[in-house]
Amino acid sequence: MSVDPHIQVNFPLLSTFRNRQHVNILGIETSCDETGVALYSDVDGLLADRLYSQIELHAEFGGVVPELASRDHVRKLLPLIRALLDSAGLTLDAIDGIAYTQGPGLIGALLVGSGMAEALAWALDVPALGVHHMEGHLLAPLLEDEPPEFPFVALLVSGGHTMLVDVTEVGQYRLLGETLDDAAGEAFDKTAKLLGLSYPGGPALAALAQSGDPQRFRFPRPMTDRPGLDFSFSGLKTHTRTLWEKQSLAPDADQVKADIAAGFELAVVDTLAIKCRRAMQQTGHQQLIVAGGVGANRALRRGLQQAGAKAGFQVSYPRPEFCTDNGAMIAFAGCLRLQTGQYGKGYQHTRIDARPRWPLEELPAVNR
Ligand code: KG4
Ligand code: ZN
Repeated sequence: MSVDPHIQVNFPLLSTFRNRQHVNILGIETSCDETGVALYSDVDGLLADRLYSQIELHAEFGGVVPELASRDHVRKLLPLIRALLDSAGLTLDAIDGIAYTQGPGLIGALLVGSGMAEALAWALDVPALGVHHMEGHLLAPLLEDEPPEFPFVALLVSGGHTMLVDVTEVGQYRLLGETLDDAAGEAFDKTAKLLGLSYPGGPALAALAQSGDPQRFRFPRPMTDRPGLDFSFSGLKTHTRTLWEKQSLAPDADQVKADIAAGFELAVVDTLAIKCRRAMQQTGHQQLIVAGGVGANRALRRGLQQAGAKAGFQVSYPRPEFCTDNGAMIAFAGCLRLQTGQYGKGYQHTRIDARPRWPLEELPAVNR
């Protein structure tokens, strides 16, 4: 895979990186219900990646059970790293640095990744760096062959976050708007649960919506009739509950359910598209990137493509498997930061640490 010259870091490498031509960074993602690992080379790009999803483990509970998630990360992480190295034909000594998700996320799950990363880094005598999960998502489109150029607006839509961010450079993030209640993915998941769909709700609801008529029921487009770039999705969920309670005994209940799913999905897509258009206008940027799990939603991709074509901005996404949680985005973001010497003292990583809450704007800039 080619690497965008724009993001290749040419600064003198510090400490153990000094005089190294190639660096291979191991990325570890354990913030929620996916164990993701990847190996990223500053010269050759992504060498390998592996993902283990805990979906089956949590399915019977209808949502992520944090304690089960942590225990499963403990079980899966080391075998996954071994499988990763095997698939790349490499051994542990090929690792020059380790990047792990330090937050935000589930505390126990984060501690598994950070503990493993710091211990392995100590054993291999290489630097380790805690990466902000949302920075990982935000930079994921840069892993693609035709990466977007800075500056851009990032729409981050995941299970825990809905944010619009003005990105002028790696590490320079200005929050333009965010959700005041449920995240977009959370709204998908909760609405799917209300409709009795299987876990995880987002993809299940999107699949059902395909056979539905989005115009049959009218859904609001929350907070679009007032200025600003914040979101609120909890009202859509309540709207669905009321609608479904009234309609669930209808003779065509299966079709009603599909039509509600389609109406809900379109309402989310329209709302996100309206706010994205506004953010593009406000910043004057020509490029929008979309990342996070809901970025895998096809209707959203179509809706934003259309909005971009109309208003004259480009829209880029990571490939669908890098929209949802993965190790590649963490390896990549970590590589950019590690190469500028951001580890150990001055970047809080002299101890095992996890930050379940961590504002994106607190990240230090990257001087490339
Ligand atoms: O980024 P992600 O994998 O994990 C978090 O950091 O939260 O996002 C997961 C979220 C879940 O809420 C999931 O239901 C949603 O993304 N999601 C989708 C789709 N695929 C994943 N929502 C709607 N349509 C999809 N196709
Ligand atoms: Zn995520």
